[in-house]
Order: sequence, then structure tokens, then C-alpha cells
Amino acid sequence: MYGKEQLCSAFIVLLCFRVTQNASLSLSEQNKYKSLIEGQGLYTLDDGVEILTSHNFKNELYGQKNAWLIEFYNSWCGFCQRFAPSWKALANDVREWKDLVNIGAIDCSDDDNSKICRDFEIMAYPTLLYFHENFQEGPDNRGAEVVKGTDVHTHREKLIEKLIREQTEGRGKIFPPLLPIHDTSNVDKIFSELPVDIRYVFLIVESPQSLLGPTVAMDLHKINEIRILHTFNNNSQLLGKLGITTSTSVIALSLPKDMVHLSGDFQTRAGISTAILNFLESKKIKIPERSPKPPIFTGKWADVEVPDISSLMEAREREALNKKIKEMGDAVFQMDLETALRISLKTEVGRMKNISGEKLAALKAYLNVLAKYFPFGQNGRVFLNQLRNRVNEATNTINGEQIFEIVKDAEKDNSKVFSSPERWLACKGSKPQYRGYPCGLWKLFHFLTVSSAESDLNDDHADPLEVLNAMHGYIKNFFGCFDCSNHFQDMARKKGLSSVQSRESAVLWLWMAHNTVNKRLSGDSTEDPENPKVQFPLTERCSLCKNTDGSWNYPEVLKYLKHVYSSINVRYIGSDSRILHLGLEGALPSNGSSSIFQNIDTKGLQEKDVRS
Ligand SMILES: Cc1cc2nc3c(=O)[nH]c(=O)nc-3n(C[C@H](O)[C@H](O)[C@H](O)COP(=O)(O)OP(=O)(O)OC[C@H]3O[C@@H](n4cnc5c(N)ncnc54)[C@H](O)[C@@H]3O)c2cc1C
Ligand SMILES: *[C@@H]1O[C@H](CO)[C@@H](O)[C@H](O)[C@H]1NC(C)=O
Ligand SMILES: *[C@@H]1O[C@H](CO)[C@@H](O)[C@H](O)[C@H]1NC(C)=O
Ligand SMILES: *[C@@H]1O[C@H](CO)[C@@H](O)[C@H](O)[C@H]1NC(C)=O
Repeated sequence: MYGKEQLCSAFIVLLCFRVTQNASLSLSEQNKYKSLIEGQGLYTLDDGVEILTSHNFKNELYGQKNAWLIEFYNSWCGFCQRFAPSWKALANDVREWKDLVNIGAIDCSDDDNSKICRDFEIMAYPTLLYFHENFQEGPDNRGAEVVKGTDVHTHREKLIEKLIREQTEGRGKIFPPLLPIHDTSNVDKIFSELPVDIRYVFLIVESPQSLLGPTVAMDLHKINEIRILHTFNNNSQLLGKLGITTSTSVIALSLPKDMVHLSGDFQTRAGISTAILNFLESKKIKIPERSPKPPIFTGKWADVEVPDISSLMEAREREALNKKIKEMGDAVFQMDLETALRISLKTEVGRMKNISGEKLAALKAYLNVLAKYFPFGQNGRVFLNQLRNRVNEATNTINGEQIFEIVKDAEKDNSKVFSSPERWLACKGSKPQYRGYPCGLWKLFHFLTVSSAESDLNDDHADPLEVLNAMHGYIKNFFGCFDCSNHFQDMARKKGLSSVQSRESAVLWLWMAHNTVNKRLSGDSTEDPENPKVQFPLTERCSLCKNTDGSWNYPEVLKYLKHVYSSINVRYIGSDSRILHLGLEGALPSNGSSSIFQNIDTKGLQEKDVRS
């Protein structure tokens, strides 16, 4: 059995630094704490928006007294980023309504949450769903879509309209009465069926287009001694009976039918509230304190469910998935990295008959960085270590077919090495001829340069060129695109690959090299019309990456690259994350007696290799 620090692989290395004492926490547990402390996606705990995650979603939503209005969003989607400030403003604006209708948000780009977003069939981001009080879990219970506003005012209007519709349909009984008084015959009816503790009824007279009456009723619903009602100013019969002549007014009615015309600014929500509150103060009625600004995380957790690959991949979801992937922008997917790895070893290395000399050295260097940094689970890391050791032991020559067979063996289901089917996600082109492997390979090497830069920076002996040299060797000796290979070698010479000084600088060098290729290929016939070659990253994904004069801001570019290609940001859509999180129990014995490694000489494998 391995020690606890085993889990502290390159794959979760950043988090492991932070929680050294708790290195055995699962990634999903770590995410739970992260969302507790820092919030998630586009929202922090101070924003007033209730942050929903896979850990609390069910307990917060189902069978609750209050209703919910929830934004299902994707933190990579630019629209969602622009939308978030107005959503925060809404949550603060209606924070007095929280016990009646709570404002929430869930980040569908977080893999832990993806099952929830899939269950609710979220096709576009952001989607706003309303869930009535006492909502029950069920396959058809999706909630009701609410039209988005454009700012805090229109958000609030759409919400109050929804709440009014709820009462029209017989729900929303926890809300104060939100429907106007249409009845004209009898003023006494206003006082019938009132709870006994009501001492004053306020009647707001407003135009039929106004939503101020119901809004103020929601705002002041915590004051038990009052009831706020409204009627439209075309209800001339009722107004006649009450002797009201102005088209907007607020009157306080008390039993037995004293009537006071309030004065104030009745064109605004705040004006009406103030008039009512002043009146209550004059009558010595205690007004409950207003809600504090920051929300309180309720800390209720539900069990996490592991997403199911086959259901994700069903045809009816494929289109939504493609859209989602696109919206996730520059995100790196486990599936693309694994597919690139498999093709590189099976198809490219695997087609070489005799790997020796420079080719063998290049293969060793490539496997070395893979074994160190590829974001595999436990079994995958054992697999790469054994493969590396096997090749390292070869002094003279190794046959590509051997490598091919070893990978084929590792692909068997019971090996639990690969977490994903051999497919492209982000690297899928709009037609079969576009994107695919070259795209995956770029992503893989960007990922590896960042992993190298993320790894122990105190290690003075680490070679800043370990990844770039491995890439150069791979591209030169194995990459099937001959022109690409030549261009890349040429660029490596001209742009001084060998003089890169640090591992962070290597990240930037590869970014620069890739952008050089992008520039050359822009408008080329190989360009996927749906994925034009652009200078990376686009400003909409990283607004700070460029200075106002259009030049690159290199520290920001580096930050962005280290963010999107970070091991902790690899997305597991379509991957079986159980395999990636497979704990020590599920691990193979270190001496490799399990069947998948029967073709590999495992004598060289030491515990310290596995730990890399
Ligand atoms: C080493 C190498 C050399 C190549 N040389 C040639 C060549 O000479 N001629 C040729 O026709 N094709 C060449 N190709 C293929 C070409 O670069 C593209 O990979 C291919 O056209 C597919 O393009 P794509 O739209 O999928 O995006 P790709 O260019 O493959 O990019 C994949 C993803 O990487 C990210 N990305 C883009 N730019 C950057 C950047 N600067 N930094 C970090 N991330 C970035 C984006 O998310 C993008 O979607 C080469 C590929 C490789 C790996
Ligand atoms: C007042 O206007 C509303 C909305 O236009 C309408 O539904 C209602 O019937 C009108 N009431 C009277 C008494 O005219
Ligand atoms: C492979 O290389 C070795 C040594 O370089 C040589 O002896 C052998 O004949 C080669 N085999 C093939 C199939 O080319
Ligand atoms: C190593 O493999 C042998 C079989 O080859 C097995 O009997 C033994 O228990 C294994 N050791 C460990 C530590 O798993």
C-alpha cells in the first residue's frame, strides 16, 4: 500500500500544496470546501446570490417552504459573465424576499455540477428556472423557465410577474396577496378573511401597468400587523365608494374603517415604502430589522453522484453538449488529452518499426514528461510509469508494435487506466477533416508546459526545457504531419527554443509559437470555418491579456495560460471521473501482477517512481 501523499500527484498538485495536512481529501470534498469558503464560478459568498453546488442543491431545493429563482450558468460563457453583475444586484435588491423566494446560481461548467445541469436539460446559458415552494424531485419536474431581464429593474419585474402568475394559478400561498382587488361591490370585503393580528390595511391605487403594489407587499411582508393590497385606478366603482379621486395614492385603512390618506412620492417603490413605514412609526408599530446584506450559507450537503458516461453521450444530448463545449471556451478536457495521448502512442509511435538512437531518446523524453505530468488517476500513473521504465530499460532498440500492444492492453475496461472514450470534445471539428489530433497535441503540450511550471518551484534541478525538448523530439521524430514537423523545427531554431530560461517562460514560448502558426494558417483551407485561427487568447476570454494599445500583456497572458491549462481546471465532461479519483483501494498492486501489465517488465518500478 502506498502512503497518503500518493494522492498528491501532479494532477491535483496545487490543491495539495494548500491542504498538505489533508492530502487524502477527495477532489470533490476539496471542491466542497472551496465553494464554502470562496464561492464558485462567477459568484462569491458576499454577492447575495445563494451558491448552489452538487453538495447542497437537493437539500436546498426540494420540499422547501420557499420558492427559488435559479440561474443555471457556465462560468466560461461570456454572456454569463456579463450577466452576473445584474444577477448579484437582483439578489441584493430582493434580499427581503429571501424567505419567500430565494435567488440562486449554479455553475454548470463545474464538473461536479454537470449532472444537475444535465438533469434539468439546460441548453443555453444562462437559463433562469423558477421552482415553486415545496418543489418535489422527479424526472419531469424541471421548474419553469423565466424570461431574463437586462438589468436589476427588469429582472425584478419579470420575477414579480412570475410570482403574480403563480398566485393566479393557485400556488404561491406563502407570498402576501399579489393580485389586485377587482371586486367593486363591497368595501367590507377588503377586511374579510384577514388574519387577526392585522391592524392596518394599506391600499395602493395604481395604474394597471404598475407593479409597485405587489413589489412593496413583498418588500414589507415581514411586518405582521399590516396587509398591503392594491387596486387599479380604473376600478372607479371601488374608488368612488372610498372617495378617492387621485389616480395614484396610498390609503391606510383600519378597523373599524378609519381611513387615512398617506402623503409621499407614490411613483416609486421607495416612496411608497417610506410613506407606509412613517405611518407605522407614528402608530408605534415595531418594524422588523431589514435583512443583513451578506447571505448565510446553509451548509446542508447532499451526496455527490458520479456522472454516467453513457447517458451523457446519448444522441439527444449531443447537440447540447457541443454547444456547451463551445461555450466553455478555452477549457481543456480530459477526453481530448487522453485521446491525444492514445493516438500519439498507438498510431504515431506505434507505426515505427525500429525505434532506436535519436528516436529512442525522443520517446524516452516524451514518456518522461507524460509520466510526470499527465493528469491520470492512480492506475493511469502506474501504467505510464511502467511504460516509461520499460522504454528506459531498452538500450538499443524497441519496436513500435510493442508500445502499441501495451497501450491496447491498458485500454481494456478492467484496467481502469483511461477514463474517456477515444473521441474529441473541444478538438472536434465541424467536419471530420478539421481539428482532431493536431489540436489535441497542441493542447497536450500546452498542458504539460503549465504542469511543469506548476510543479515544485523550489526544485532548482528541474530542467526548464524538459517539456519543450520532449515536444521538439516528438514533433521531429514521430509527428505524422511532415510539413508541420519541419516548420516547427525551423521555428524552434529561429525563435530560440533552446535559450528558454525558466519553466514559466517555456509556457509563454509555446504560446508564442502556437500563435505564430495560427497567424500563418489564418484563412488557410485547412481552417475549420467554425473555429477560425485567431491570436490566442481572444480578448473576450481574457480582457486583461492585451493592453489598451493592443499589445500583449505578458504577465496576464501567462496567468491566463496557467489558469486554463492548469491541472485543476481539466474538465471531466464525458469522462468517468471515478477512474481518475480511484483511491488506493482500487489501485493495482505496485509489483504489477495485474493482467494489463503482463507484457511489461515491471521489475524497475519502485514506489518512488509511482509517486512522481
Ligand atoms: C507542432 C505543430 C505544428 C503545426 N504546424 C502546422 C503547419 O505548419 N501547417 C499546418 O497546416 N498545420 C500545422 N499544424 C496544425 C495546426 O496548427 C492546427 O493544429 C490544426 O490546423 C487544427 O487547428 P485548430 O483549429 O483545431 O486549432 P489549434 O491551432 O490546433 O489549437 C488548438 C487549441 O489550442 C488553443 N490555442 C490556440 N492558440 C493557442 C496559443 N497560442 N496558446 C495556447 N493555446 C492556444 C485553442 O484552444 C485552440 O482551440 C501544426 C500542429 C502542431 C501540433
Ligand atoms: C382595468 O384595467 C385592467 C388592465 O388593463 C383590466 O384587466 C380591468 O378589467 C380594468 N378594470 C376595469 C374596472 O375597467
Ligand atoms: C532494427 O534495428 C536493429 C539495430 O539497429 C537491427 O539490428 C534490426 O535489423 C532492425 N530491424 C528492423 C526490422 O529494421
Ligand atoms: C506481487 O506479485 C506476486 C505475484 O507475482 C504476488 O504474489 C504478490 O502478492 C505481489 N505483491 C504485492 C505487494 O502486491
